Amino acid sequence: METEHERWSRIFSGSTFFYGQEPGSVARRAVKYARSLKATGGNALDAGCGEGQDLLYLAQNGYDCLGLDFTSEGIAKSGLLLEHNGQKSRLEVADLTQWNTNEQFDLVLCINSLQFLGADAPQVLNKLKNLVAPGGVFGFSAFAREYRDENPIEGSIYRFHLDELLLNFADWQPFEAARLWQWGKSGSAPQPFATLVASKI
Ligand SMILES: C[S@@+](CC[C@H](N)C(=O)[O-])C[C@H]1O[C@@H](n2cnc3c(N)ncnc32)[C@H](O)[C@@H]1O
Repeated sequence: METEHERWSRIFSGSTFFYGQEPGSVARRAVKYARSLKATGGNALDAGCGEGQDLLYLAQNGYDCLGLDFTSEGIAKSGLLLEHNGQKSRLEVADLTQWNTNEQFDLVLCINSLQFLGADAPQVLNKLKNLVAPGGVFGFSAFAREYRDENPIEGSIYRFHLDELLLNFADWQPFEAARLWQWGKSGSAPQPFATLVASKI
């Protein structure tokens, strides 16, 4: 059976951009909130940046960016997208479960990536939280489970519950927290997602 790494490598090895080249809605809103706190400058991390459409948006908004993904295909496409649009970012092929840094970021995005980390997802969420500088913003989205007492782990997938996120970020200032039902690229039925944008007090 194909691993998550093999699956994403295959998906990103095509010539087109699987999720397009436009930034997603959580990235847009996270930048808007972050800019309301700090008007210019700053550094940003996109953890699980895929093919780089959100990373490009961060760079276009003046952030000194780091894009990280465990597929060399996604990182290569991110580099091409940025270059094509006259932007720059640091790029790193790394597995979020292993990766560590001493750097702190004014904005951390983690969009629809952590659900693929299975049982490691909660600890990686905490690691990313700790990388946000005081006054910085975290923008997060992931597959959700509808009932808190449901088993969060199904094979390699972890489903967050919105209450679990809100509890985890109880000492942060939330900007928005929502459960959304969206159609994935390949799914035939709407799939629940949890999103959270909050700033570290
Ligand atoms: C659904 S895609 C989302 C990509 C991008 N954030 C976006 O919104 O288009 C999931 C991403 O998570 C990455 N990913 C999954 N597991 C990872 C891991 N352990 N370490 C780093 N990246 C991972 C995949 O390579 C893929 O880019």
